[in-house]
Amino acid sequence: GKVAVMLGGTSAERDVSLKSGMAVLKGLVAKGIDAHAFDPAAHSLQELVEQKFDRVFIALHGRGGEDGSMQGALQILEMPYTGSDVLGCALGMDKVRCKQIWHSLGLPTANWRVVTQAEIEQVNVEAMLQELGGRVIVKPAREGSSIGMSIADNGRSLALALQHAAQFDDDLLVEQWVEGAEYTIGILEGKALPVIRLQTPHEFYDFEAKYQANDTQYHCPAGLSDDDEASLRTLAERAFVAIGGSGWGRIDVMRNNAGEWFLLEANTVPGMTEKSLVPMAAKVAGLQFNDLVERILAQTLE
Ligand code: DAL
Ligand code: MG
Repeated sequence: GKVAVMLGGTSAERDVSLKSGMAVLKGLVAKGIDAHAFDPAAHSLQELVEQKFDRVFIALHGRGGEDGSMQGALQILEMPYTGSDVLGCALGMDKVRCKQIWHSLGLPTANWRVVTQAEIEQVNVEAMLQELGGRVIVKPAREGSSIGMSIADNGRSLALALQHAAQFDDDLLVEQWVEGAEYTIGILEGKALPVIRLQTPHEFYDFEAKYQANDTQYHCPAGLSDDDEASLRTLAERAFVAIGGSGWGRIDVMRNNAGEWFLLEANTVPGMTEKSLVPMAAKVAGLQFNDLVERILAQTLE
């Protein structure tokens, strides 16, 4: 059948999505699949029906594509799509709700506070910092690719970090900083792929470290003991299921210097660019990019 690869869209991650989507498109075409690019920022969804598309590979990141709204629209059009459904995407997009669910299930995640846009002026930044260990990372609740995120370790920088994040969302997450290393676990067909450890000279794995820098190092295998690798993979699978995730995705995690894990966030449409992590882990598992995208698409036939 005819496949639409949805890419671009209107979120702050539009440019990343264009790269992900073009890579996916190329992979599917190389597999002999009748795939075509479809940018919902430029075309009405009605065209999917008029042009007789049979299913959709969603390569949209961020709001409007990864947050359940597109998934809901496609469901109403009876158009099968890749990845998690409305609920999984809506929860996955929202870092605060993810943490609330994980915490309630006893899955590890760093301490946090929520600040709404309306509350920014009233926040006692000094007290909040102290409660959260003196160093925090501030994030818009619903963004991706580290957009709007900054670290704060004094009252003034926390106030600025809140104002910065507030440009991207009304709900802001203030999360205790975990000193240690970042790991990520791709999920394919509900199962964890080999763990990747990220190493960046930046303060954290920010937008530049993700897409522009060439001093970011990726370790896969991650250098964990077999037991740690296995328990981290299990943790990632549980965290993904807990938020209603299905099919493919990626769970990001920190490990502190005492060896404890902290769930950071879930991605229900993880990046598929040249530098992206799920393709890297899949390759280590013996799966080439073209086969990976074919397997993700095959989920729509189930
Ligand atoms: N939000 C970006 C695309 C990622 O998680 O890979
Ligand atoms: Mg994300």
